[in-house]
Parts: sequence; C-alpha cells; structure tokens
Amino acid sequence: MTLEELKAKIESELNDIKLNLQTLSELRAQYLGKKGPIQELMLEMKNIPQEERPAFGQRINALKVLANELFDAKKKELEEKQVEEKLKKESVDISLPGKEFNQGSIHIISKVIEEVEDLFIGMGYEVKDGPEVETDEFNFQLLNVPKNHPARAMQDTFYVDVEKLLRTQTSAAQAHTMLEYGGTKDIRIICPGKAYRRDEDDATHSHQFTQIEGLVVTKDVTMADLKGTLEVMAKKLFGDDREIRLRPSYFPFTEPSIEVDVSCFKCRGKGCALCKDTGWIEILGAGMVNNNVLKMCGYDPKVYQGFAFGVGVERIAMLKYGIDDIRSLYSDDLRLLKQFKL
Ligand code: DAH
Repeated sequence: MTLEELKAKIESELNDIKLNLQTLSELRAQYLGKKGPIQELMLEMKNIPQEERPAFGQRINALKVLANELFDAKKKELEEKQVEEKLKKESVDISLPGKEFNQGSIHIISKVIEEVEDLFIGMGYEVKDGPEVETDEFNFQLLNVPKNHPARAMQDTFYVDVEKLLRTQTSAAQAHTMLEYGGTKDIRIICPGKAYRRDEDDATHSHQFTQIEGLVVTKDVTMADLKGTLEVMAKKLFGDDREIRLRPSYFPFTEPSIEVDVSCFKCRGKGCALCKDTGWIEILGAGMVNNNVLKMCGYDPKVYQGFAFGVGVERIAMLKYGIDDIRSLYSDDLRLLKQFKL
C-alpha cells in the first residue's frame, strides 16, 4: 500500500458513523501500533535507494503525525457526542406538570382551642382533661342538678347505663378538679373537650360538639374578675376593639348566672344579619360558682368563691370564620376543609 492509499484508507475508516470510543481505540492500535502499516512502511526503508530515504522518511513521519491528529480529533468528537447524549438522557423536562402533594393543616376547631389555651396558660391556668364517659354524679348531681331536676331537660342525654352517660357538658371537669384539689388549694383551670347531646343534627346542632370549660376558685375572686377575664378572651378571639355585655341568665351550677355577648365584629354594633340587628352576639354562659357546688365538692363557701364559664367551640369557629353549617366542621370533604386552611 502506498502512503497515499494508506492516508485515504485511514480517513475513510474514521468517517464510519458506527465508530465509538472503543472501536476507535482499537483502530488506532491497528494503524499506529508496532505491527501496523505505518510501521511496516518504516521497515521498507531499507529497500529504498539511499538518496530517497530522507524524503521517504519525512513523508512517513508526516503521515504518522497526521494520522495521530486525525485520531485525536475523532476521539474528541466522540467524547463530546457521548457527553451530549448523556446530558440529553438526564435532562429534566421542566414543562411537565409536577406531582401535587397535600400538606395538612390544623383544623379550625383545634385552632380555636389552641388560641384559648395559649391565652389562659399565659394567665397561669392549667389545662385539664376529663372523661367523655361520665357518671351522672359528676355530670349533673355535683353540679347542683339532682335527679329529676327540670334543668336536665335542657341537656338531652345519651345514657350508657343508669349511672353512666356521655358527658353533656365539660362542666363535669369542675367537680373532678375541686375534689382533686381537696378544698384547700386555689384552682385556675380550663378544660377543652368533646360533649354529647341527643340533639337532631342540623345547621346549628350536632350530637357531638366541643366546649371549653373554665373554673377559678380562690378566696377572693369576684364577678369583676370574671368579667375582666371574659373580656380578655373575647378580644383575643374576635379582635381588640370588641366589647362584651353581661345578661342575667340561669344555670343550676352558678349563682348569679350570666350570658355573655360580644359586640358584633361584622357591623361593629350598627346592626346586621349576623347579630340579628342587635349589635351583639351571644358567645357563652358563665357565673359565680353556686355555693351548693362548692360545698358538695369540698370547698367552704364562707372562705372560697369561684367563677366558671363554658364556651361552645363550634359556635366561636363558625362566627369567626363565617361558617353557616356546623356539619361542615365534621365533613371530610377536602375541598371544603381547604377553604378553612389557616
Ligand atoms: N355547661 C353549660 C352548657 O353546656 C355552659 C356553662 C354555663 C358552663 C355557665 C359554665 C357556666 O361553667 O358557669 O350549656
């Protein structure tokens, strides 16, 4: 093979599109290796007349350099191609829609409870728990509601048996705490939790609902303290510029008993549908702990006084977030729950 033929052959081999880095390196060894055609041409040198040898040698060398350059260039080209292909395979299509994942959030009922807990913990109260399956004694009798008392009609009850029932009010925690504290220790507690009544479920009633009970028993607590405490709570829940008003009411376990209204946060007292044009919205019941309750639970009413209050959490949540059906709060419909996402 002449030098020209060899050069043309190498060039045509390097043009083969099937070439890859592996076959390229084999090809290079084949042409430029010790037993390759270029080396063979070198060996032929001895058969060439003396005076032609330098020129011949130069041409072989030039071919060798050129072949090396060609192989290097091809190698670079193939390496670049390989990187490009790899990048193509690894590339992320940022125009594809992402995977949606749902982030949960706290439910409004829990949110209201936490807000109230925060406030009262800050004022030195303890947060108490109580059993949902109660005895008639704690749910009613110790709260001054003996058997056959007409006030029982206000709270239609789920009975488990003659003595056990599902608590109709978190007020049951009052008697538990007073007996636990033994008639000598001051009490400042709130008790959030579920309560149950045999009501027909509708937009404003649910057979299971949530209350927060509050109880303070000390030697010097007065109705003024109760009013101040409830005012702080109303402002925390409905805004700093809210006012409250107290109306006389009746609960067997408090004397006097009051119902508490907050100035309407929607119309700011002018009158609207939410406050039924009165400028006020009822939010809770409260009062000074009835002497009979103190006595039955081991506190001497000549030495100790107390105040108590009970708030319906669903009612607060509904007012605060403009929800008109209590059943929405127990729905597992995500479309609905997401609207309340806080
Ligand atoms: N337990 C009452 C209810 O469920 C609410 C209540 C009223 C609680 C007055 C109190 C209170 O502690 O003093 O209707």
